[in-house]
Amino acid sequence: MQGMKKILVTGGAGYIGSHTVVELIENGYHPVIVDDFRNALQSSIKGIEKITGILPVVKEIDICDRSAFKAVFEEFEFSGIIHFAAYKAVGESVAFPLKYYRNNLVGLINALELAAEFGVNDFVFSSSCTVYGEPKGNSIVNEESEIQPANAPYGATKQIGEQIIQDFIQTNPGLKVLNLRYFNPVGAHSSAHIGELPLGKPNNLFPVVTQTITGKIAELKVNGNDYSTKDGTCVRDYIHVSDVAEAHVKGLEWLTNQDGDFVEVLNIGTGKGASVLEIIHTFEEISGQKVNWSFGPRRDGDIEEIYANVEKSRETLNWSAKRTVTDAVRDAWRWEQQLKHD
Ligand code: NAD
Ligand code: WQD
Repeated sequence: MQGMKKILVTGGAGYIGSHTVVELIENGYHPVIVDDFRNALQSSIKGIEKITGILPVVKEIDICDRSAFKAVFEEFEFSGIIHFAAYKAVGESVAFPLKYYRNNLVGLINALELAAEFGVNDFVFSSSCTVYGEPKGNSIVNEESEIQPANAPYGATKQIGEQIIQDFIQTNPGLKVLNLRYFNPVGAHSSAHIGELPLGKPNNLFPVVTQTITGKIAELKVNGNDYSTKDGTCVRDYIHVSDVAEAHVKGLEWLTNQDGDFVEVLNIGTGKGASVLEIIHTFEEISGQKVNWSFGPRRDGDIEEIYANVEKSRETLNWSAKRTVTDAVRDAWRWEQQLKHD
């Protein structure tokens, strides 16, 4: 591993983090995971090893514990940081706003402060399309599209996070930050060794569909059928999690070749929208099974239709999503069957 670039990956045991760690290893980096497994299982680390043949270094630390986090910077000389660690459940953030503000903001502040203290200049931050809220007029948003007031504390933590970064850059020459605004990451690694963990009751569409097929969930409610979309159901930009992971590797490469100090914002999506019904039908085709679903009322605060303008990320990173939504459905289904088997 000597001579390899060490990359700190906070939240690297989680869903997007574990897929990114795989891509990092496969591209010759040496990732160091910092994760206290509050929303992950050790099996994700074993999965990474099964895919890559390498057991990644893991530091089981709460990044809100600044002195423990600092010790990791003392132990390793990082050339870059990818900061995933955060809470992400929109509904839970409404019920426990301070839990979200504390973890998502204190974690980010510690990561930025330590990056500056230890002279680690390349920093990638997990932002979200949630910062755009309900798009005004055009459903295809670009990075200059207006930011709407957040409809939940979760989204607010991403907006405030981006603001904190913007302000911090002014005082830290050399620092280079890439805010990646992910749209809807879905699916799993094609090996089915890692994927999205079913901790608790899922709210996101993909895990709800797979668990409805396997019978863990009795019936899927499609939230609303009277939107002004192609079939009346909401439209999203679902992107394969391995494509999201690859964007991070491209992002790090790109950061390395830039001079500081700046923050760049990029959409990470496919540029295509799929409706809830289209996703359900694709799952039925791929699995050969019926999804037990019916229409229910609209979900509070749901956005009708949003997808990414991906021109800027394509031009900047020389990256675009390679996998289709059908690939993501196939891999999500494979992963669900693997989970059942285990
Ligand atoms: P995840 O919950 O699977 O991963 C987050 C990881 O961070 C978990 O392994 C958790 O144990 C860890 N973590 C959380 N707080 C920590 C702390 N204080 N100290 C140490 N470890 C901690 O979530 P994910 O889906 O992989 O999301 C990763 C990032 O991407 C998050 O910042 C999330 O907000 C953002 N994001 C996710 C989505 C999505 O749909 N999954 C979309 C847009 C943005
Ligand atoms: C997709 C569509 C639902 C479940 C969330 C976060 C967002 C970002 C991505 C982190 C919607 C419908 C769902 C069900 C349904 N995450 N649905 N029945 O809402 O686009 O975004 O994840 O940053 O911040 O809010 O994704 O998967 O929850 O929903 O009809 O049982 O599926 O109403 O139209 P969403 P989702």
